[in-house]
Amino acid sequence: MYQPFSPSTESLPAQLPPSGSIQWTSPSNIALIKYWGKKGVQLPMNASLSVTLRESVSHVTLDFQQTEKGLGGADFYFEGQEHPVFNKLVMSYLEHIRPWFPFLNRLWLKIDSRNSFPHSAGIASSASFMSALALCICQLENYPLKEYGSDFLRKASFMARLGSGSAARSVYGKMAAWGKHPAIHDSSDQYAIPFPEKIPAIFQNLQDTIVVVDAGTKKVSSSQGHQLMKNHPYAQTRLKQANQNFHKILEAAENSNWKTFASIIENEALSLHAMMLSSIPGFSLLKQQTLEIIEKVKNFRDKHNAMITFTLDAGPNVHLLYPHQERKMVLPFIHDQIKPLAENERIIADQMGNGPQPGNKK
Ligand code: DP6
Repeated sequence: MYQPFSPSTESLPAQLPPSGSIQWTSPSNIALIKYWGKKGVQLPMNASLSVTLRESVSHVTLDFQQTEKGLGGADFYFEGQEHPVFNKLVMSYLEHIRPWFPFLNRLWLKIDSRNSFPHSAGIASSASFMSALALCICQLENYPLKEYGSDFLRKASFMARLGSGSAARSVYGKMAAWGKHPAIHDSSDQYAIPFPEKIPAIFQNLQDTIVVVDAGTKKVSSSQGHQLMKNHPYAQTRLKQANQNFHKILEAAENSNWKTFASIIENEALSLHAMMLSSIPGFSLLKQQTLEIIEKVKNFRDKHNAMITFTLDAGPNVHLLYPHQERKMVLPFIHDQIKPLAENERIIADQMGNGPQPGNKK
């Protein structure tokens, strides 16, 4: 297997004290061009593009203590409590990344993760959590690093990807691209890179109001959904579409063309769910309210010529995206017509953010 980052040695990082603590706060992200379908070890079938969020973050604290060789290991806590399901995922992740960080054999870790958003809000926390954890471990390797340059972030993105594909993109602020695409110089399936073009004013500070339609656990996980792409009858067509949409969205960004931007984002969201519906076996993560919200957004947009669009991740919740300047027009609409359709009227006001930060502050 091609590994761009060579495994390090088993000796402990030179300046690592006998014990200490590292913290990172890392955001979730929402994909505009969707990653759906994997190949090899956690590599994407197509390139994806995302907006990094600001408010929806995970705070990870990693306490470490040196041990005798071979006695390394970890305890994991979610919101200060043991969590057997997450614990299993974290332990198998640590096993997976051990070849890159053999010094983990000589450390005992205590990992604690907390989210800024309620666990049952239906917001995927794997991207924010896995990116925060990867950043902590990469910092451990480079202890006591204080400057986080592009090499550091690239490795953190690579490591985050091994935990969850979309987490690779959360390592960067604003917008990030993951997956090899001919239009993006330096893009890679192995790690994400920051969006290399200038982000036009209209897309800066993009607002994302997350409408929580259903906060329950999904019937089909993203990992299962990705698997179903392997024998999907429309897989090749979908991959072609994603690549073309990537080209088109770059053009729309270059020309500050909101209408094209919106139409591609919606096409991606609906195509993602169309792939789920037409998988074998097919499944749907959409709810009646999801479709009602989409209808209302379209009607409102047509009537008021408003700059608002929507996207969906692998679930029923709707992300409403609009430029900052459009808030005055859009917010009353969301409050009056959309909020009543949310589960317990729960909406989360988020927006484009600047990416992870060391420490446990937002
Ligand atoms: C629909 O990154 O959650 O949100 O790699 O198995 O952890 P794993 O999957 P995950 O899939 C995300 C799929 C998506 C689209 C996207 O974020 O690009």
